[in-house]
Amino acid sequence: MELVATVAAAFWAMLPAYVPNNAAVLFGGGPPIDAGRTWKGRRLLGDGKTWRGTVFGTLTGVALALLLSAINEPVGTAVGVDLPHFPLVVAFTLAFGAMLGDILASFLKRRTGRERGASFPGLDQLDFVVVALGLTALAAPGWFWSVFTWPVLAVVLVMTPVLHLSTNGIAYALHLKEEPW
Ligand code: CTP
Ligand code: MG
Repeated sequence: MELVATVAAAFWAMLPAYVPNNAAVLFGGGPPIDAGRTWKGRRLLGDGKTWRGTVFGTLTGVALALLLSAINEPVGTAVGVDLPHFPLVVAFTLAFGAMLGDILASFLKRRTGRERGASFPGLDQLDFVVVALGLTALAAPGWFWSVFTWPVLAVVLVMTPVLHLSTNGIAYALHLKEEPW
């Protein structure tokens, strides 16, 4: 089935960008990146964006990308799908890009008067994808366009909000996260 193969490749290619935000929820905390600074009476980023969460989130995503790279051939053969390998630069742009997208979204949320934890439908679900993929396309265009073909990108656009809402819902139900978005 062509669609199953496209979904499998899209999920595999996006895993290093999906995991950092969840790792940040688990490992986050400590001093906020904006060190409490405000702009026009509102926090620059807020207490939800910390150094520890960002560093651990990025490292977790990079480590996962390297692990997936080591097993892409046996797993791909087993499921009958050609799964991508991640060069180190791509491991970094996918993981750090995801964290940066989430940070930029918090910046926009504070500018639009939303307090920490408030939802911003659309932005919350796709912020990290846009920056992770954008940075990767800039840093490694050849790799990017060979893996993220238009059908794969279409799957990513549909699959990401569904996965994001369900994983955050689970994290909320487990009391790991204060809000379900
Ligand atoms: N987190 C972190 N550092 C990051 C991102 C997330 O420490 N760069 C941790 C924080 O403990 C944060 C939690 O993960 O509270 C959930 O992340 P998120 O939903 O992105 O943050 P919010 O607290 O909802 O804040 P915001 O409104 O700015 O998104
Ligand atoms: Mg949030």
